[in-house]
Amino acid sequence: MSKPSVYVTRLIPQVGIDLLQAECQVEINPHDRPLTHQELLENVQGRDGILCLLTDKIDAEVFDAAQGVKGIANYAVGYDNIDVPEATKRGIPVSNTPGVLTDATAEMAWALLFAVCRRVVESDAVMRSGQWPGWGPLQFIGGDVTGATLGIVGAGRIGTAMGLKSKGFQMKVLYSDAIRNEVLEQQLQAEKVDFDTLLEHSDYVSIHVPLMPETRHLFGKNAFQRMKKTAYLINTSRGPVVNEAELVDALQAGEIAGAALDVYEKEPVMAEGLKDLKNVVITPHTASATISSRGGMARLAATNLLAMLKGAKAPNCLNPEVYKQ
Ligand code: DGY
Repeated sequence: MSKPSVYVTRLIPQVGIDLLQAECQVEINPHDRPLTHQELLENVQGRDGILCLLTDKIDAEVFDAAQGVKGIANYAVGYDNIDVPEATKRGIPVSNTPGVLTDATAEMAWALLFAVCRRVVESDAVMRSGQWPGWGPLQFIGGDVTGATLGIVGAGRIGTAMGLKSKGFQMKVLYSDAIRNEVLEQQLQAEKVDFDTLLEHSDYVSIHVPLMPETRHLFGKNAFQRMKKTAYLINTSRGPVVNEAELVDALQAGEIAGAALDVYEKEPVMAEGLKDLKNVVITPHTASATISSRGGMARLAATNLLAMLKGAKAPNCLNPEVYKQ
């Protein structure tokens, strides 16, 4: 019997490729860049399985091109790049990679939080420029963390991990979520509050919601005006949760103290003016970029795809209803 044909839309860590190659004919995008939509459509034709990335838009056109595909494994926990309802309508299972990047992403949120409030990037630039005149009592004064209030928007896996890591800083923790989070409440005496209350009382607001129609532009002009003028915004979730142009306006107007972003509304492009602001720290969507997380994502995505190719339910299936159709 011939091996199933699998297409991988960009090179991922070898552990995932090895798992796939043991059981499948694997073809990998040879370029170190995302495929264009046209290239994606051409390459998915005749495949049994597709392993894709968050940079691939997997829509009805792709499903049309990939007639007969038995499963789509996303190499990411976020899956806003895939039209899952359309896949479900067509009986195509889809999976993601939860769990393996929780701590790495929460750690990055902390790295960004400290970088922006203690002005690490700005200070580093001055040191490298050779312009530091020596110690000064008014230089690079930033925000305090110990004892401050941390607001977690979206208390799922990553939001919870971010919150728990605040323990050493004796912070007051607020969270907003549709569901009560007993871990945060029991371990940190965190308080579940509505979104506006969180904005009004937090010194640091860290975003951990998935991108959905309800969360697109959750942060815009109104949200920034509600935040404290001394507060910082941290985003490691998805760029479009923040209206980036309105964030630039808010930062320029001093409506909030600063922002640290790992994700952008129209990656890889950033809103006009963002990179020129000193009170901003910007990283290139690397919150999950640790050896164990990226390896774990590769292993999980491959394991999910192999299960789907055998007609079994993937461990991280996003639309298990396809098996009941
Ligand atoms: C994810 O898995 O959704 C992350 O954004 C990848 O870094």
